[in-house]
Amino acid sequence: MYTAAIVGAGFISTRKHLPAWLRLRRDVRVAAVCDLDLARAEAVRRQFGIPAAYADFREMLEQERPDFVDVCTPPGAHADIAVAALQADANVLIEKPLATTEEECQRIIETERGARGRVEVAHTELFHPWVIKARQRIRRGDLGNLTGMRIFYSTPVALWMTDPGHFAHRLPGGSIGETGPHVVYLSRSFIGPIRDVWVQGRKILPEYPWSPFDDYRLELMGDNAASSIALTYTSKHSAFLVELWGTEGIMKIDMQSKVLVNYRRVSQSPGGIGLSAVGEAVQMAAGAGANGFDYLAGRFRNIHDRTISEFFRNSVNGRPPAVTAADGLETVRVMGVISQQLQCQGEEVNSPSNSGPNNASGPSRMR
Ligand SMILES: NC(=O)c1ccc[n+]([C@@H]2O[C@H](COP(=O)([O-])OP(=O)(O)OC[C@H]3O[C@@H](n4cnc5c(N)ncnc54)[C@H](O)[C@@H]3O)[C@@H](O)[C@H]2O)c1
Repeated sequence: MYTAAIVGAGFISTRKHLPAWLRLRRDVRVAAVCDLDLARAEAVRRQFGIPAAYADFREMLEQERPDFVDVCTPPGAHADIAVAALQADANVLIEKPLATTEEECQRIIETERGARGRVEVAHTELFHPWVIKARQRIRRGDLGNLTGMRIFYSTPVALWMTDPGHFAHRLPGGSIGETGPHVVYLSRSFIGPIRDVWVQGRKILPEYPWSPFDDYRLELMGDNAASSIALTYTSKHSAFLVELWGTEGIMKIDMQSKVLVNYRRVSQSPGGIGLSAVGEAVQMAAGAGANGFDYLAGRFRNIHDRTISEFFRNSVNGRPPAVTAADGLETVRVMGVISQQLQCQGEEVNSPSNSGPNNASGPSRMR
């Protein structure tokens, strides 16, 4: 029997990670939970029936010597915890982003080099079955040459915009530091290495002055394809929509309702457009129906379940992590360029010579 310990007893830890670890109970015992806020760690310990609670992760590592450490704290704490866990011989799963700076990522990578344990970054959106399917279809040539993609990601205002104490407001660039890593690594998995980055942040909701920006446009340029992204934190509604296109076809993915649609509209006659619209509606209804059936039949697995069980199985079978620390570093590198551009925009807006709206800086080359 292996042992696991989780650091951070907040939102993602209690909603997704702990339930996923507890579903592996035939092979893994969750031995301890740690949170700077000991009362919170204690409450989670009782709620999930975990033997021990700690406020100090170093003490927890020393006492428990876990085989697995799962890091679910805000990003600024990831590097110190990961390094200490690797030094204690654990395999380490780290929520995205790997860390907040390239230097912190390098520190994790250096420590992993001489360690027994391996690091995996929870880039969970890569493991959606419909994202895997889209990638397979692109590889098979269904879209011809992939030339572009577009992502619309809306995080509802109530999730953290209303909370001045939420860590997202203190990340470099503001809220984009929290959900931005998802769209960066997802784009990279389709368009390849990102060469140029352009971002513009806007401030739309004055009632939440603690957030520097609440609406962003982002362009990520690969060698042959580009990703255009809108991230907003201004709506009541949540959305995560992805479109991919190439010389031979177009695909649309609703990441939340878990439906992949092939979009075919070669003819622009009213009949051709009508047939294509009906085709889309049929695919959406069939996809939603199949997902509903899986859910009711208890066959539905969320992506954190998949990520954590794969991480566990890869580790015990000596296989490499699905997402390495080097992959995590690439995302952090892009996020660093994004936050630098946003910082310049903030300075331009605050300078006395500029009373206009936020100006866009030019694109930044990655290398
Ligand atoms: N994959 C996803 O869909 C997803 C969703 C939400 C959050 N996340 C990621 O998960 C991580 C945590 O986010 P959250 O929303 O759960 O945050 P949260 O604020 O709800 O919880 C974080 C917890 O970590 C604790 N903590 C902070 N520093 C600590 C330390 N040094 N030692 C022990 N405990 C410490 C805090 O007290 C808090 O209870 C972040 O990296 C975030 O980006 C991922």
